[in-house]
Amino acid sequence: LVDGVLKQWTGNTTPVYSTISSTEEYAPTFLGTIPAMGQDVATEVILAAEHAYNNGQGMWPTMKVADRIKCVENFVTQMKATRTEVVKYLMWEIGKSLPDSEKEFDRTVEYIYDTIADYKQLDRDCARFTKSQGVNAMVRRGPLGVVLCLGPYNYPLNETFTLLIPAIIMGNPVIFKPAKHGVLLISPLLKAFQSSFPKGVINIIYGRGRDVASPIMKSGKVAVLALIGNSKSAIALQDQHPNKNRLRLILGLEAKNPAIILPDADLDLAIQECITGTLSFNGQRCTALKIVYVHESIATEFNRRFAEKVDALPFGNPWEKGVFLTPLPEKEKPQYIQGLIDDAQKQGAQILNEKGGTHSDNFIFPAVLFPVTKKMRVYHEEQFGPLVPIMTFKDIQEPLNDMAESNYGQQVSLFGKDIRTIAPLIDTLVNLVCRVNLNSSCQRGPDLYPFTGRKDSAVGTLSIHDALRSFSIRTFVASKDN
Ligand code: G3H
Repeated sequence: LVDGVLKQWTGNTTPVYSTISSTEEYAPTFLGTIPAMGQDVATEVILAAEHAYNNGQGMWPTMKVADRIKCVENFVTQMKATRTEVVKYLMWEIGKSLPDSEKEFDRTVEYIYDTIADYKQLDRDCARFTKSQGVNAMVRRGPLGVVLCLGPYNYPLNETFTLLIPAIIMGNPVIFKPAKHGVLLISPLLKAFQSSFPKGVINIIYGRGRDVASPIMKSGKVAVLALIGNSKSAIALQDQHPNKNRLRLILGLEAKNPAIILPDADLDLAIQECITGTLSFNGQRCTALKIVYVHESIATEFNRRFAEKVDALPFGNPWEKGVFLTPLPEKEKPQYIQGLIDDAQKQGAQILNEKGGTHSDNFIFPAVLFPVTKKMRVYHEEQFGPLVPIMTFKDIQEPLNDMAESNYGQQVSLFGKDIRTIAPLIDTLVNLVCRVNLNSSCQRGPDLYPFTGRKDSAVGTLSIHDALRSFSIRTFVASKDN
């Protein structure tokens, strides 16, 4: 979708495969093709988005708030009709289970409605006068300019829309490149985008980053880089902008969220939460628990029961009833996970569960690794897949020191009962990460709560409330008392 036109693509295309096989003999399933766009389309979309913005004088940033809201409402109404198709793509493209795919779709629809409601409130708040030292001010929220938006493959609809919708509603035109996996699921939405927004406001591009996103960044016309994914891509893209002072970053990046299990923790609860925390969607969540610290006094019992539970998790295709573990969308992921296992085993770790590390073509059964040490790759790398490293600690200061030294700082899960131990720990933990989950696994939602991280985990804050502010600037009109 470029400048309001659904291009009939005649250039090169790239095939899209699902790692899920539809035949007895394993073979990836061909799902369709996407255009391999390059410099010429990059130039077109920049011109289109710039025209819609026109240095803040364009039709989109100057449109009345109520009219911009109507466009978004119109879009979400049409989007709802695509649920079955988008859910099917979520299952085939990224291997997400049927209930989770439906949840992703419904959460996105709800997110859009909640964003509209919050935007109305923001607009009402802005209409109030404030007064300080004889100066009256009426605050406004203004757009920033052209936004380049790139979403992740694990939530190709939902998380992408947590960038795209607030960016648009605040008056910024968007150039959006869907994730590599989860790219086709945008196709059913193209017509809804086209008919809901004026031309140039939303432009959707396909192709390799270096071919199409790089020239867009190099043009220097991007005001906001909004990306959820890995820091390597974020750094590569921002480095290409010729004037970084003019570039705002809104980034959701890697994390290595720990679970800390204190000696008095409710073990049933801790084990259950650690199962969902480490392995929901096969551990492919930035919020997943990626390292588990268990107090040495309870480690034997925790490890045994945890490993048994992991082995009992049902694996199957996303549409199968009750399935928990599903095929991995990245065909290289099983080898990568195997590499982490091999490295840990060489250095003394064991796989605690019988099925751990067993392979099929598109899947590797989660391995529970123990004892993990700081020399191992899995301690340092964000596995983003089905692998659970467990460490023990004697003194709580050990995991706290590790967190302080870590390059990441998104969330932590703390399991324990005695409030006299927990309360002072919370005061320390909130300065190491951005969300402390008590007796529960880490997660992003509810979408009203701030979602961000310290250090290399994030730049800027998302949530329904925060995203509207992240994608805008606070301006005001001032007058003096006479
Ligand atoms: O991949 C990172 C997502 O923000 C995780 O979201 O906690 O709702 O699964 P979630």
